[in-house]
Amino acid sequence: MVLSVLIIMAMNSNQNYSLKSSNSFNIKTSCSDIYFPSTFADLLKLPELTVGNTSDTFYILGEGSNTLFVESQAPIIIQPKFTGINILEHKDHFIVTAGAAENWHDLVCFCLEQGIYGLENLALIPGSVGAAPVQNIGAYGVEFSNYCQEVQWYEFASKTLLSLSKEACNFAYRDSVFKQERYNKGLITQVTFKFPKAWQANLSYAGLDVLAKNSSAKEVMAQVITLRSSKLPDPKTLPNAGSFFKNPVINQDTFIQLKQRYPNIPNYPQQDGQVKLAAGWLIDQSGLKGFRHHDVGVHQQQALVLVNYGSDVGADIISLAKYVQRKVAEKFSVLLTPEVRMITHQGESSFSSLIDTNPIEDSNVMRENSDD
Ligand code: EPU
Repeated sequence: MVLSVLIIMAMNSNQNYSLKSSNSFNIKTSCSDIYFPSTFADLLKLPELTVGNTSDTFYILGEGSNTLFVESQAPIIIQPKFTGINILEHKDHFIVTAGAAENWHDLVCFCLEQGIYGLENLALIPGSVGAAPVQNIGAYGVEFSNYCQEVQWYEFASKTLLSLSKEACNFAYRDSVFKQERYNKGLITQVTFKFPKAWQANLSYAGLDVLAKNSSAKEVMAQVITLRSSKLPDPKTLPNAGSFFKNPVINQDTFIQLKQRYPNIPNYPQQDGQVKLAAGWLIDQSGLKGFRHHDVGVHQQQALVLVNYGSDVGADIISLAKYVQRKVAEKFSVLLTPEVRMITHQGESSFSSLIDTNPIEDSNVMRENSDD
């Protein structure tokens, strides 16, 4: 406690705190102030900028694996440091509580080691536990919301800790109340899960269907790790933020027209009648898989992932993302929107409002390729 207060004070006085190692794109950026609350007392000491939501010039950072710093200057950063994992065993289920700053994959491994099953399909997703509810992380047929019981959230205005039930979190595909009504009005300190003891492997997703029906949770996790490692680059060796774009959801009529032109188009019908498409496939079919422009590019194995080969500048990723968005729109008339959060010195910004000062032009791309 004493230590954390000291850290807050020390960081507060640091006028140029580098965030290069705090974002998985490895972009060179720094902030004037950074806060690391790890206790309720620390939360009470956060500056008034968070109250009333009159200003968005701060950003709540987890492990920075879904964040793109667009400029060399970042806004004020609050990085929660709440830690600890607690297990309560009941007759037919386990209740697990984890601090927001715990690493997501470590939590998945810890649960499995304790014989608590359910999160195995979500192995190896980069990031912190506190970031998981914000965009309702999901992979291989399972979403965070499947096992969420409640989220503990500190409300800036009332200076109180609230327990938000799963229903109150309004989870949807890569979405939650924390991106909507409660956006920037507080921060997640802790997450509580409920895992029924009656467990069954979820093998519905392509790649897991090769496993035997009676596979153990550890076998499922091993297969998820194999699948992810074969397609997704490790940010430590090739900086990236996982899926850069969300899978777009379109209406039936538009889908029928697309299906006529592209009979093999992967599609996932939604409960509301809309259809989800695979952004990776759309980018791939636009001829961009493995595309490289100077120090940034589209990953060779998974077109949904943009990678940084060595640029220090977030704007380079923006130029690439805008190019990808343009090419896909030209070919399919479908607008891709990023899953990654865009952060300028003024706080979070929408992708559409970011100006691309150095757009990638087809003519340049053709010239660069012929120069090779
Ligand atoms: N596809 C291609 N080319 C590509 C990539 C994909 O043709 O370059 C095709 C695949 O063959 C498949 C379809 O697109 O038919 C879907 O691909 P995949 O199963 O690999 O999943 P995804 O839709 O690309 C989503 C999540 C991932 C998650 C995987 C597995 C989103 C935005 N992404 O990717 O999440 O790991 O499913 O469940 O929903 C992340 O969010 O960072 C992330 C990696």
